[in-house]
Amino acid sequence: MTQYLVHPGSQLKGRFPVPGDKSISHRAVILGALAEGVTEVEGLLEGADVLATIAAFRTMGVEMQGPDHGRLRIQGVGLYGLRAPGVPLDCGNSGTAMRLLAGVLAGQTFPSTLIGDASLRQRPMGRVLRPLTAMGAEIAAQDDKAPLQIHGRPLHGIDYTLPMASAQVKSAILLAGLYAEGQTCVTEPAPTRDHSERMLRGFGYPVERQGARACLRQGGHLHGQSLQVPGDISSAAFFLLGATIAPGSDLTLEGVGINPTRTGIIEILTRMGARIDLTALRVVGGEPVADIRVRYAPLQGIAIPPHLVPLAIDEFPALFIAAACAKGQTVVTGAEELRVKESDRIAVMASGLRAVGVTVEERADGAIINGSPLLGGRINSHGDHRIAMAFAMAALVAQGDIEILDCANVVTSFPSFPALARQVGLLLEVVGA
Ligand code: S3P
Repeated sequence: MTQYLVHPGSQLKGRFPVPGDKSISHRAVILGALAEGVTEVEGLLEGADVLATIAAFRTMGVEMQGPDHGRLRIQGVGLYGLRAPGVPLDCGNSGTAMRLLAGVLAGQTFPSTLIGDASLRQRPMGRVLRPLTAMGAEIAAQDDKAPLQIHGRPLHGIDYTLPMASAQVKSAILLAGLYAEGQTCVTEPAPTRDHSERMLRGFGYPVERQGARACLRQGGHLHGQSLQVPGDISSAAFFLLGATIAPGSDLTLEGVGINPTRTGIIEILTRMGARIDLTALRVVGGEPVADIRVRYAPLQGIAIPPHLVPLAIDEFPALFIAAACAKGQTVVTGAEELRVKESDRIAVMASGLRAVGVTVEERADGAIINGSPLLGGRINSHGDHRIAMAFAMAALVAQGDIEILDCANVVTSFPSFPALARQVGLLLEVVGA
């Protein structure tokens, strides 16, 4: 079992380009596979989650060269060119792979089965099964959990209001909409990442947006593209945390996507007192990008405004550590979605923080975290990549070593994390890899 042993007392200094965005990488593979002609991707994240999506499309007959140093060449087969997979498609740890593939596969003319690891088999799939079934899909799943057995069927459009702020569910419905007769519309209760809508347009497929409602019609085509994937702000988040909490730090994270549906971490840390500057603003692959400079700054606890929660949804492991390092209390509300991520991130972060001496009051939809000095200790990440990386950064300011168990899944989103973290000063040892 892979463990991290992280020693305290260092600071983070230097600069590096942040590896590709996971959400955008999945979508580049999916839309590239379904496009007509060749798609050339650069900066693709070669994490295990994205590799699972690549493998699934290869199994369905899509030829791809790579990935190699972030380059992937996809020979698109067009919307109607996928082949029956014949074997179950393994989504590994990836909720994005499973939910977006369910949307693509619901309207095919062949059957398919989506499987996943122990964590993914626990995660709620009813949230995609309900709207897809309403579109005419036939998907069997016990207790609304994976494995999903999909019997491809003709679909019809839907006008669906999401019961929760979820970009995965929104994207699954829009992808199914490519195959559904008439118009498919999704309304979201709060803004969520809009990479699917942006990339569909980038591939030449019209998507209309009016306020919280996104609509598309069957009958369009996706055209192969050259596209560059920006750096993942959700990976940068751990370094924003580390450099903010460790005195003397000064770090520049290059080429990070700053899509406004993803920048909640910057907004929240800044409200807590962080010193974060954006420079070299540009547009890459239809997405806004910047270099982010972050320097040490003392933090102050705050009540995190609930409207910022979906804009920072993957960053709460990092934010819980920031809160523990802040003066006073930080209150997280409206974040019940954290309970259905790769782990129950409220429960696992609360127990991890308690293990290093922090007082945390758990709530159904969040937590109250009392800032205090961090002790050393042993943390169980429960196989959750983001919890492992957040506690690795916590060690910068702990009074003793922090040992983190069950870290192998860091490869799902950020395989180069240990090397990059060491490169900029984190005293991290990987044990038992
Ligand atoms: C993602 C959406 C979010 C996020 C996940 C990636 C996506 O999940 O937590 O890491 O790529 O669409 P939800 O849709 O469940 O909020």
